[in-house]
Amino acid sequence: MSYRKLCAAVVVAVVCTGGARAQAPDAPWMNKALSADQRADLVQAQMTPDEELTLVRGYFGLNATINPKYPPPPEAILKALPHSAGYIPGIPRLGIPAQLETDASLGVANGRHMRPGDQATALPASILTASTWNADLAYKAGTVLGTEVRDKGFNVLLNGGVDLARDPRNGRNFEYAGEDPLLAGTIAGETIRGAQDRHIISTAKHYAVNDQETGRNWLSADLDEAAMRESDLLAFELAIEKGKPGSIMCAYNRVNGVYSCENDFLLNKVLKGDWHYPGYVMSDWGGVHSTVDAANNGLDQESAYIFDKDDYFGDALKQAVADGKVPLARLHDMVHRILRSMFANGLFDDPVVPKPIAAKADAAVVQRTAEQGIVLLKNDAGLLPLGAKARSIAVIGGRADVGVLSGGGSSQVIPVGNNPSQEFLVGGAVRVLPNHGIIMPFDTMVYDPPSPLAAIRAEAPAAHVRFDDGSDAAQAAALARSSDVAIVFVQQWLAEGHDAANLSLPGDQNALVAAVAAANPHTIVVLETGDPVVMPWLSNVGAVLEAWYPGQSGAKALARILFGKVNPSGRLPITFPQSVEQLPRPTIPGVDIAEPAAGWQDNPNLFGVDYNIEGADVGYKWFEAKKLTPLFPFGYGLSYTTFRYGGLSATAGASPTVSFDIGNTGKRAGMGTAEVYATPPGGVARLVGWSKVDLKPGETRHATITIDPRLLASFDTTAQLWRVAAGDYAISLGGSSADISATTTVHLEASTIKP
Ligand code: BGC
Repeated sequence: MSYRKLCAAVVVAVVCTGGARAQAPDAPWMNKALSADQRADLVQAQMTPDEELTLVRGYFGLNATINPKYPPPPEAILKALPHSAGYIPGIPRLGIPAQLETDASLGVANGRHMRPGDQATALPASILTASTWNADLAYKAGTVLGTEVRDKGFNVLLNGGVDLARDPRNGRNFEYAGEDPLLAGTIAGETIRGAQDRHIISTAKHYAVNDQETGRNWLSADLDEAAMRESDLLAFELAIEKGKPGSIMCAYNRVNGVYSCENDFLLNKVLKGDWHYPGYVMSDWGGVHSTVDAANNGLDQESAYIFDKDDYFGDALKQAVADGKVPLARLHDMVHRILRSMFANGLFDDPVVPKPIAAKADAAVVQRTAEQGIVLLKNDAGLLPLGAKARSIAVIGGRADVGVLSGGGSSQVIPVGNNPSQEFLVGGAVRVLPNHGIIMPFDTMVYDPPSPLAAIRAEAPAAHVRFDDGSDAAQAAALARSSDVAIVFVQQWLAEGHDAANLSLPGDQNALVAAVAAANPHTIVVLETGDPVVMPWLSNVGAVLEAWYPGQSGAKALARILFGKVNPSGRLPITFPQSVEQLPRPTIPGVDIAEPAAGWQDNPNLFGVDYNIEGADVGYKWFEAKKLTPLFPFGYGLSYTTFRYGGLSATAGASPTVSFDIGNTGKRAGMGTAEVYATPPGGVARLVGWSKVDLKPGETRHATITIDPRLLASFDTTAQLWRVAAGDYAISLGGSSADISATTTVHLEASTIKP
């Protein structure tokens, strides 16, 4: 029986809809006038210890047993498992809804299974959303996610990737929002806020410093407290303030030697202590390593326990509470946190009811995101946008006849538009997605339709558009030679669990671009990558667009940019290096350490990643500190028009303000982004704000931003507070971190801020 049919069956309605309706609506905790904490207290007072234990341990949401060590869950749960990432049974007697968890950094994930008609909107990857530098769009993308999460019968969303892009080879950077704490915190926070406005719980993850995939289950991210507070933790702090996520997912990796999910410093001291976080901490799938340490050090819920080496929050936790090793008050606290997030986010008051997604409306929102997040990196002699002169167009490579590439892993989405005959690539070989059954999202390259080829043909109906798959560079070059313009699609496929080996495009793609560019100077390269790549052919091509993984509206957005219906406005949220030699760690630590056959929990080869090399100077800050010139700087992105940034002034004070003008000096309407950086005395520049505005030709707008003083401060670990040093701060305004057109100075007095 499908999940939808299952949910239609009256007998299990309690499990599928969360069951709140099954309980008397006049139970005292259903009084909406009370606070979430009061309501949680009231229902909790009715719970038995065994019922409390039910809420702190989750099942894997697939109706399959993956670890023979554990018996399958009880029959009732097995029946109700909703084909999702995770499932925590509800307590019908009290009207406590089940928690139905789904991944969603690319849309509501359905990659672990495929049922006919089970479609979700494939959103652009988070790195593209970050490239929009548009908090409103991030919020709207969040509302699409939140709505589809509900429509598909879930109430807990595992989206809100905030880890900083410390390494441009990280295989999950596409699920995160770039290298800067303010940008990442804003984009992730707004996405979470949008999702939760649809009455579901959203999550910020993976807490913390989960910045590479290589050895993610046994590495220790080694980073001093001050640097951590000023970088990775600051991104979380800002995202949590903006988004107020109901849950936080602790990471796989250790931080300074201690697993994230039993890390007293991260969970108790910083998150729940300093930041007063009221929600709950769930583990990543397989991220728990103990019962007593995990419970006492701040983990509130063991996710999908079957992935862990032991059933830590099952009988073992019950025993630990009985033995007094985990105080009963701590178990109450774990449950209180879960329940208060469920109340605060509408899980009791507005139970989910599965229904078909509003695919058309959602597609329109994600198209706007794609249109603003695709980044124009090069455009010689106004090659773009293409006009009527492009009468013959060669479209080459990158499966541009199939769709646009998406990232892989637990976030994988089988997009709207898929049908049973849709082609997917597995390890380079085309295969047909099974009509029903489990696919492997970690090793399956999924292309989101429609194809760029079709979208280009639709935008240029009068042009002669021909396709070559790029497998033979000479043949592709011949097609390019006989065309007015050549558009080459190149790709880097990334999936959770692995990092990119280096910064190069895989396979022979560089040779393909070089051959095409040699045949036709009007060559446009479209990158579909999850990370920055180097471009040895850059000086020989006319234009380059970074499309990231642009989602199901990506092809349309690309075509509209290529032909000028949309003026590109994306800006890079991550530095593009010239080579791995420019990175703090030219070789990815741990590449030579294999996962043992027994599984990741048993690896004795623990290793550390020394993030103290760059400390808080992540990305563009490292490049400035080391006086390195990148291939493309953080914040960079071209437009079909030109902008002037000026009229800069700044005021001092506890929260300094910066005012400036941004003007459109070109002949086309376009969105320009004025970026503001502040350089503390003796430090490097830090992004402190920006303003993205839509401008007609000749139009100028004035903007003012207020600087969060934490962005100017250093963290004093002895006094445990932020310190803004007295002195002159350079305030710079420009179109990227490396393109500053105006600078002023503001003098600040010494001040402190409590975390
Ligand atoms: C990932 C998480 C994800 C979880 C559940 C893990 O492998 O690291 O991001 O939410 O699986 O699918």
